[in-house]
Amino acid sequence: MERSLVLIKPDAMERGLGGIIIGRLQQQGLKLLAMKMLHMDKGLAERHYAIHKDKPFFNSLVEYITSTPIIACVFEAEGAIDLIRQVMGATDPARAETGTVRADFGLDIQRNATHASDSVENAHKEIELFFTADEIFDC
Ligand code: CMP
Repeated sequence: MERSLVLIKPDAMERGLGGIIIGRLQQQGLKLLAMKMLHMDKGLAERHYAIHKDKPFFNSLVEYITSTPIIACVFEAEGAIDLIRQVMGATDPARAETGTVRADFGLDIQRNATHASDSVENAHKEIELFFTADEIFDC
């Protein structure tokens, strides 16, 4: 079974879209194992997005993701990484396939409604940043 970290980002939180996005993932058979609302601080944002630290948009991305509280979730399914990325659509909402979360709700490449882990290895690291083992439930 694969797991993935999903973040409901500030632009989606501000528009009250957390429930509908989480519902879309559950409707696809993804099992919700953990969920919390939190306000990421700069340190957590820099660790979470460390892979992008040399990109020109890094500082703006950190400022954005720390601008409001977000929802962090862990989802599980066979092939969860690919399945979630199909539900979310392309990173840039302008390129996201019709009917995907980002096509429906994303505003632009930064304010793209959600984050989802892009590999099993990164999912493991990202989940550990946000959740302790006893916050993850297999019910
Ligand atoms: P996410 O899946 O959270 O992972 C990294 C984020 O960086 C990505 O979604 C986008 O929100 C953001 N991002 C990627 N490319 C760009 C870009 N060219 N300009 C601004 N933000 C970007």
